[in-house]
Amino acid sequence: MIGVFDSGAGGAYCARLLAGLLPQADIVFYADRENAPYGTKSETELRSLLLSDVEKLRSFGAERIFAACGTAGSVMLNSPEEPTFDGIANVLVPTAKAATEATQNGYIGVIATARTASSGIYGKLIRALCPACQVMEIPAQPLVSLAETPPCLRNPDDVRTAAEKIRAEFGEFEPDTLILGCTHFSCLKRALADTFSVRRMIGCAEEGTRAFAASLGEREKHGSGRLIFL
Ligand code: DGL
Repeated sequence: MIGVFDSGAGGAYCARLLAGLLPQADIVFYADRENAPYGTKSETELRSLLLSDVEKLRSFGAERIFAACGTAGSVMLNSPEEPTFDGIANVLVPTAKAATEATQNGYIGVIATARTASSGIYGKLIRALCPACQVMEIPAQPLVSLAETPPCLRNPDDVRTAAEKIRAEFGEFEPDTLILGCTHFSCLKRALADTFSVRRMIGCAEEGTRAFAASLGEREKHGSGRLIFL
C-alpha cells in the first residue's frame, strides 16, 4: 500500500496523478483538512501534524509514503533528526533538479506557501545543484485558498489579481523558470502562466509525483488498483 498526504486539494491531485501513472497500485490518500492550511503554521506545529499524518497512513498499512505537499517536504528536510520522516518522499528535491535543468538564464523564481518560501529551502537545494543559479522565493499563500475554492465558484479576476501582486514582488528579478512550489497551485497553472509569462513553469505536484512513481519497486506498483480517499 502506498500512502499519500497533504492538507487538501494539491495532494488529492497528486494521488490521482499517481493512480494514472500506476493503475495497478494500491494508494491511500489522507487530507488533513481539519488543520489546513499548512503554509501559515510554525515548523513546530507542522512537525507534530506531519508525525500524525504519517502515523495515520502507516496504521492504514502504507509502507511507502509520499508527502504530496511542499510545506510538509520543507519541514521534513529541515528535520533530519526525526526518524519518522526517514524515507518519506518529498516534492522539493525532484522539482529543484528539474528547474536547474530547465533554466537557460540561471534565474529561477519560486512561489510557494509562506512556510516553504520563508524556509529558503529551494534556494539551498538549487544552489547545491547549480552554484551559479540565482533564486528568489516569494510567499503566495492567497493562492492556496483560491486553489481550494471549487472552480465553479472561483472568480478568475481574484486569481489574476493575486498572481499580479505576487509577480510584482519579484521586482527586477526576471526568472525564465518558475517553480510552483505548492502542490495546490497546479490547478491555477493556466492563470499563472498568463501572468508570469516565463519560459518554463515547473509544478512540484507533477515533478514530485513522477519522481515518486519512478522510485517504487515492482511489488509496490502491482496491487489491486485501489485508490482510497480517507
Ligand atoms: N499543498 C501544500 C503545499 O504544497 C499546502 C498548502 C497549505 O495547506 O497551505 O505546500
